[in-house]
Amino acid sequence: MERRHGIEVENLVREFKKGPRAVDGVSLSVSPGEVYGFLGPNGAGKSTTVLILTTLLPPTSGTARVAGYDIVKEGSGVRSAIGAALQEAALDPFLTGREHMNLQSSLHGLPRKERKVRGDELLERVGLSEAANRRVRGYSGGMKRRLDLALALVHRSEILFLDEPTTGLDPQSRSALWDEVNRLARDDGVTVFLTTQYLEEADMLADRVAIIDEGKIVAEDTPEALKAEIGRPSVEATPVDFKELDAVSNVLGRFGGTVPASSGSAAVRLERGDLADVVRALDTEGVKVMNLQLNSPSLDDVFLEKTGRSLEGSGGGEEDEA
Ligand SMILES: Nc1ncnc2c1ncn2[C@@H]1O[C@H](COP(=O)(O)OP(=O)(O)O)[C@@H](O)[C@H]1O
Ligand SMILES: [Mg+2]
Repeated sequence: MERRHGIEVENLVREFKKGPRAVDGVSLSVSPGEVYGFLGPNGAGKSTTVLILTTLLPPTSGTARVAGYDIVKEGSGVRSAIGAALQEAALDPFLTGREHMNLQSSLHGLPRKERKVRGDELLERVGLSEAANRRVRGYSGGMKRRLDLALALVHRSEILFLDEPTTGLDPQSRSALWDEVNRLARDDGVTVFLTTQYLEEADMLADRVAIIDEGKIVAEDTPEALKAEIGRPSVEATPVDFKELDAVSNVLGRFGGTVPASSGSAAVRLERGDLADVVRALDTEGVKVMNLQLNSPSLDDVFLEKTGRSLEGSGGGEEDEA
């Protein structure tokens, strides 16, 4: 299959009557086959953007093309080309997983013969084969998310929208979902637009990440480039003898400015030299350290730098399922 179109968004705005500018001039471009991470805290405007791009909500202004179709003038074209697993997905608690798959396949006009094969194949892929004949009301949060994903994959769409697919999931379900998203992108060439409030998820999955805050993109690049932009890594040293902490601090101080360290350790942002230079300097001074580590900047450092706030722990309940 030839895939030539990704997502093109120009100056998208969405205002709500009694609310803020939920989306405040967003422009972005996602290449075919790319995994694009839309990272931001609760209320940043992620879901509103996804609703607009999936034609479920009209923009106040601005334009966007998804899979080559204009989201306002060619909505049905967009809908035929995309799959979406959205927050608060409409699963019917009284239907089984398999019944959901059947319904979705017939909605998308799959021939009856193909429906069962496709449904079973997808349920297998997301690990729901055994639960296929159970009603959704007995599913865990993770199982519901995986069913959402399977439903979004029914018609082999070239572009997939996933709105916080792993929020509230336990680490195991989260990593299973990551594997599947990776597989879809690498093996099937699916373009993925994924929103998340997890730094690690954006870092792991996305080819490029946009950091969104209060309706605006405040940074956009590959995770590596975003982190590199923050600058050099920090180096942290822990003396064997606690009494030598000051000596360690002094040596580290030659290499850059002090940054917070865990207790019993000292740390600096590495502005001069490298780790080997630090090792040599500590050695020359005769200070023994039991631990010396280089910490790369994280996406949280990027968020902090761009917004003045920390993303980690900035609300957005991390209620892992029991
Ligand atoms: N239907 C709506 N009416 C009024 N305000 C809304 C509506 N939907 C979202 N908002 C507001 O728009 C902002 C962005 O919301 P949303 O896109 O859901 O953020 P996110 O998905 O990043 O958590 C929030 O301040 C939210 O309260
Ligand atoms: Mg949301």
